[in-house]
Amino acid sequence: MKFSTWEKVGGSVLIAAWLIYGVNFIGDSLVQADEAPPSAKKAMSAKTAKAPAKTAQAPSGSGDALALLASVNPDAGVKVFKKCKSCHTAGKGGKNKVGPNLWGAVGRKKASHGGFKYSSTFKGLDGNWGYKDLDTFLSNPKAYAKGNKMTFAGLKKASDRAAVILYLRGQSDSPLPLP
Ligand code: HEC
Repeated sequence: MKFSTWEKVGGSVLIAAWLIYGVNFIGDSLVQADEAPPSAKKAMSAKTAKAPAKTAQAPSGSGDALALLASVNPDAGVKVFKKCKSCHTAGKGGKNKVGPNLWGAVGRKKASHGGFKYSSTFKGLDGNWGYKDLDTFLSNPKAYAKGNKMTFAGLKKASDRAAVILYLRGQSDSPLPLP
């Protein structure tokens, strides 16, 4: 196939245009890639600096409270447990109120306290109350098991959950080893 001079010129102009466009495009993405990390870092440090409490309040909560268990003061848990007292006793042989007695609750089988009428949702739960389960449950009881009877908004602060879990751990004949 033979091209006329004009066709050749036109073709090379087109190719040149594509090359310029391409180089520009690649150049732009390189510059962007270069710029991204510092601005992302800035955004992140601004976030952590501004709202440390907020990060601790992450709704999933998993991990946060567990990390605090070793450092939190168990006496703080006595105070937090005041929020639970309208429905729970924690002492040995304590009676069931709106919720079950919580003596030995940390580590015991879920929904297993004698004489308490658990919801069918709770009766369907498997396993024992380990630290992670308690952390998740207490951060948002309603979301933990749909249809359960514990009408409590939840403890948004990881330090509150850690404190009350540590307190409950002590309310037992054989406290569950810390994670
Ligand atoms: C408004 C009443 C109410 C409040 C307040 C409340 N609970 Fe409960 N709690 C319940 C009920 C009711 C159940 C049983 C749920 C079911 O059967 O669906 C329960 C279940 C539990 C269980 C599981 C016990 C088991 O034997 O499986 C734990 C642990 C628990 N609550 C801890 C707490 C803690 C800690 C607090 C305070 C931070 C708290 N609850 C606040 C009513 C309450």
